[in-house]
Amino acid sequence: MTESTPVFEIIPAHVAIIMDGNGRWAAARGLPRLAGHRAGTENLRRIIDASIEFGIRHLTLYAFSTENWGRPREEVDGLLSILQEVIDREVKDLHENGVRLRHIGHLEHLSPGLRTKVNEAIELTKNNDRLSLNLAFSYGGRDEIVCAVRQMIEDGIEIEQVDESLVNNYLFTKDIPDPDLIIRTSGEMRISNFLIWQSAYSEWYITPTFWPDFDRQQLIIALQEYARRDRRYGRISPSPCDPDGGDAG
Ligand code: FPP
Repeated sequence: MTESTPVFEIIPAHVAIIMDGNGRWAAARGLPRLAGHRAGTENLRRIIDASIEFGIRHLTLYAFSTENWGRPREEVDGLLSILQEVIDREVKDLHENGVRLRHIGHLEHLSPGLRTKVNEAIELTKNNDRLSLNLAFSYGGRDEIVCAVRQMIEDGIEIEQVDESLVNNYLFTKDIPDPDLIIRTSGEMRISNFLIWQSAYSEWYITPTFWPDFDRQQLIIALQEYARRDRRYGRISPSPCDPDGGDAG
């Protein structure tokens, strides 16, 4: 049976996801942590497909943080293997579906072979415009800001030139709009060094569901919740007495 596409009053242009809870999903089943990451990988495709179906233009997935390098060697190696498998298995199909793959973070921390594969996938898909799939791998928000500041100094930027737009242009995300909606699975209430500059006015949706169980229906619920939010960007809602409406968001 094919599911019909729900109608959303408003759809976020950019959804970013902290895919958390793989380890607990595995522990609850008496499985090793990597089994949780593998289950979480199976989930990627259905969330990407649903994002295309619903008209989301940017999907950013937090797959590996700068801090995750500190996990046990076996888990780090497992996640690197998963990245390689995902690239090998999925890129052709993603390309045929009009998905543009981008990366934010530090590719130079990967092995030369894996780096080449990721770069080839980025190059292959660069003209696709149905969905921009932004993979945050070896990414940290603080690190991103440090890199931006260093680059500005190296470029000889003058103090008068520094404003929000300039800083934006020095971030890994310079061509990507700020996330409208950030979803975090597994119930944790923290930002975990994810898009800390870009999330200034993002809406948050936190669900207790572990990432491997987060499915199309759960994405629909998150999007329906987003559609009910009143985004004010620090201003006030339009007053019924105000003939101009008066609100930006
Ligand atoms: C956080 O859960 C999840 C990660 C650190 C890895 C996320 C990776 C995937 C979903 C697989 C897809 C990966 C690639 C490379 C495309 P956790 O392990 O911290 O869970 P826990 O808090 O329950 O221990």
